[in-house]
Amino acid sequence: MNTTPKLRVGVIGLGMGRAHIKGWQEHPNVEVVAIADPDAVRLDKVGTEFGVAGRYASAEAMLAAEQLDVVSVCTPNKFHKELTLAALAAGCHVLCEKPMAMNAVEGRAMLDAAQAAGKRLMINFSYRFSAASRALKTQVDAGLFGDFYYGRSVWHRRRGMPGFGGWFGTKALAGGGPLIDLGVHRLDLALWLMGYPQPTWVMGSTYNPIASALAQQAGKTFDVEDLAAGFIRFENGATLALEASWAANIQEAELMETRLLGTQAGLLQKNLHEGYTFDAHVFTEVNGAPVNMHLCPPTAEAKSAMYDYAEAILTGQPHPAGGDQGLVVMEILDALYESARTGAPVKIGG
Ligand SMILES: NC(=O)c1ccc[n+]([C@@H]2O[C@H](COP(=O)([O-])OP(=O)(O)OC[C@H]3O[C@@H](n4cnc5c(N)ncnc54)[C@H](O)[C@@H]3O)[C@@H](O)[C@H]2O)c1
Repeated sequence: MNTTPKLRVGVIGLGMGRAHIKGWQEHPNVEVVAIADPDAVRLDKVGTEFGVAGRYASAEAMLAAEQLDVVSVCTPNKFHKELTLAALAAGCHVLCEKPMAMNAVEGRAMLDAAQAAGKRLMINFSYRFSAASRALKTQVDAGLFGDFYYGRSVWHRRRGMPGFGGWFGTKALAGGGPLIDLGVHRLDLALWLMGYPQPTWVMGSTYNPIASALAQQAGKTFDVEDLAAGFIRFENGATLALEASWAANIQEAELMETRLLGTQAGLLQKNLHEGYTFDAHVFTEVNGAPVNMHLCPPTAEAKSAMYDYAEAILTGQPHPAGGDQGLVVMEILDALYESARTGAPVKIGG
C-alpha cells in the first residue's frame, strides 16, 4: 500500500496549465487538488476533465483557501512574478512557466524570494525533458563530445503567429515576441547541454516585417518582433548563435534544431516531420572516417518536468531547471533585446 503522504498541488492558469495537471498526475504521490483561472468556462471544463474539486476564480482565493505544497504558475508572462511571490509567501514551492518573467529584474526578485522563503523555484523548460534531450545529456555527461565550443540553436515557424490582439503579441503582457516565447526553450536547451557557461557578451537583432503588416491589416495590436537572431559569447570562449521566429520565409512550417560542436563530437537535436517529436544524433570521426550515430531514446515516453520536480521534492534531492538557470536565460534575453534596440553589443555581468 502506498502510505507516502501526497504532495498537494495547485495550478494557476489553465491553457498550458492543462499540461501541468497531466504532468503532475503522472506521479503516484502527487494530487492536483486545486486550480485557478478567471475564465469560468475553462475552469469548469478543466476541473471536470481532470477531476479537480478545488476550483477558484483567482489565484489569491486558491492560495488562501488551500494548504498547498506546490503551485504551478501558467499564466501570461506578465503575471509570473507576482503569482510566484504570492505562492512562495503562502509557503509553496513553485513551478513557473517559461519565460521565468518579463525580464531579469523580475527574475532576480523571484529567485531572491524563493531563497528567503526556503522554498524551491523551478522553470518549466519542458524541451529538456524529452527522451531525445535526456539521451543526449546522458552522453554529454559521459564525456562523448569533449568541450563544446560552438553551437546554433533555432526555432523558426514559417507562419506561426499567435492570434493578433492577444497577449502573446503585446509587449506589455509578454515582454517580447518569439525570442522570449520560443527562443527561450532553444536557449535553455543549448545552455543545459553546454553546462550553463557564464555569458559575457551578446549581439542581437530583431525584425518585424511580416507580422506587423498583417496585424495592421487586421487592425490589431502586435508590438513585438516576428524574428530575432543573436550571438552569445561565454566566459570559456564558446559561442552560440540563437534564432527564433513566428514568421519567416523558409521551407519548413516548424523547424527546431540545436547543434553543438564539441572537440570530440557534435550533436544535433531536431524535431521530426516539422512537429513536436524529436531525434538525437551524434557526429564524430573514428579512425579517420566520419561516423554518424543515431541515439535511440527509450521507446517509453520520458517522464514530465512535473514528475521530476515532484520526485526531487519528495526525496529531498536537487531539482532540475532551477530559478538560477532561469535567471541566466533572462539576462541573456534582456541583453539580446537591448542590443537589438541599440545596435551595439551588450556586456553581461561584471
Ligand atoms: N513550456 C511550454 O512548452 C509552453 C507552451 C505554451 C505556453 N507556455 C507558457 O505558459 C504560459 C501561459 O501560456 P498559454 O499558452 O497557456 O496562454 P493562454 O492564454 O492559453 O492561457 C493563459 C490562462 O491564464 C489565465 N490567467 C490570466 N491571468 C491570470 C491570473 N492572474 N490568474 C489566474 N489565471 C490567469 C487565462 O484566463 C488563461 O486561461 C506562458 O507563460 C507561456 O509562455 C509554455
